[in-house]
Amino acid sequence: MLSPQQIKEIRNDFPILKTKIYGKPFVYLDNAATTQKPKCVIDEVSNFYANYNSNIHRGVHFLSQRATAKYEEARGIVQKFINAKSFEEVIFTRGATESINLIAATFGDMRVKEGDEVLISHLEHHANIVPWQILCSRKKAKLVVVPIDNNGDVKLEELVKLISDRTKIVSITHISNSLGTINPIKQIIDIVHKHNIPIIIDAAQSVQHLKIDVQELDCDFLVASGHKLYAPTGIGFMYAKKSLLDSMPPYQTGGDMILSVAFTKTIFNDLPYKFEAGTPDIAGAIGIGKAINYIQDIGLDEIYEYEKHLLEYATESLKKIKQLKIVGTAKEKASVISFILNSIHPHDIGTMLDMEGVAVRTGHHCSEPIMRRFSIDATTRASFAFYNTEEEIDVLNKALYKVLKLFA
Ligand code: ALA
Repeated sequence: MLSPQQIKEIRNDFPILKTKIYGKPFVYLDNAATTQKPKCVIDEVSNFYANYNSNIHRGVHFLSQRATAKYEEARGIVQKFINAKSFEEVIFTRGATESINLIAATFGDMRVKEGDEVLISHLEHHANIVPWQILCSRKKAKLVVVPIDNNGDVKLEELVKLISDRTKIVSITHISNSLGTINPIKQIIDIVHKHNIPIIIDAAQSVQHLKIDVQELDCDFLVASGHKLYAPTGIGFMYAKKSLLDSMPPYQTGGDMILSVAFTKTIFNDLPYKFEAGTPDIAGAIGIGKAINYIQDIGLDEIYEYEKHLLEYATESLKKIKQLKIVGTAKEKASVISFILNSIHPHDIGTMLDMEGVAVRTGHHCSEPIMRRFSIDATTRASFAFYNTEEEIDVLNKALYKVLKLFA
């Protein structure tokens, strides 16, 4: 496991962790919302703008060639990171949300007809609900939801029962952003594939915690966001099997996604460019490449092990507060803890924790159906990254006792 000395060195890589909030050390426990950025990523992005800012795939001039090479190098890093067969299967997007919208608007539009069904789970983030809801309403199809149990685990026996010959697409999260549940994704993919149904994996909350191998998983699509992966905001990616991408129409149209345009006919560009219309977030892509290199240098297995330790430490620590109830107690969890504290409103808890320098997220976490499933409006959520420490969890624990005292 990563040693305290290694964590100390890692923390030095993140300039923001030295910030003081109201004069108190900054304890950042909102990593499921977005992760902080190491200096090497900040420098890489800044280096692009300072030294070789140019548009890509268009210029014959030196800097344009350099920017193009770095952008494509980043694609190669993502390809290796998720073990995609080819660079053509990696599309840069604005993030997981845009990726799912892209899939629903193109692949979904082709595949789903009146009377068909799209299957999701009760654990989904709004980004993996609303695009399918809109598609289903447009196509007069039905959105079917696989229920979860009281721990926050997807009921696999229900998934099996709900699949029928009307099911045309399954889209499911790998890790729940609200509860931390890690879905048995390989098992789910195998169940779905037995029926020859394509499956989309929302990996927005998993690529930063677990090793992903799209060939081993055999998923049809996988989406993720850079900003949860220690990279800039506004950049992410979509993986899809090449045969599917070949069969899909473009999402957005314009520059870069074309080979030739005449007023009578347009010929689309080859993969992956067919799905990257307009000038992309070049700096963001270069940043994601650097961020992946950074976490790979630390090691995904080491990160997983250390974050698991933090989760166990935090769970034990929070369980000591008898007025606190953890929401989401799945068999396998990522380093996310949602909880309620007496009947104190999570926004009040969040505001008071902030006064102690502790940043958490409060609310429905863009997954209102999960809140309804547990008959609550909101939770307070602490989510940990590999730069967090046991001492920071102790600060959270102490601050929660202060909240209780104030609201007593
Ligand atoms: N989806 C992000 C979260 O869980 C923003 O907080």
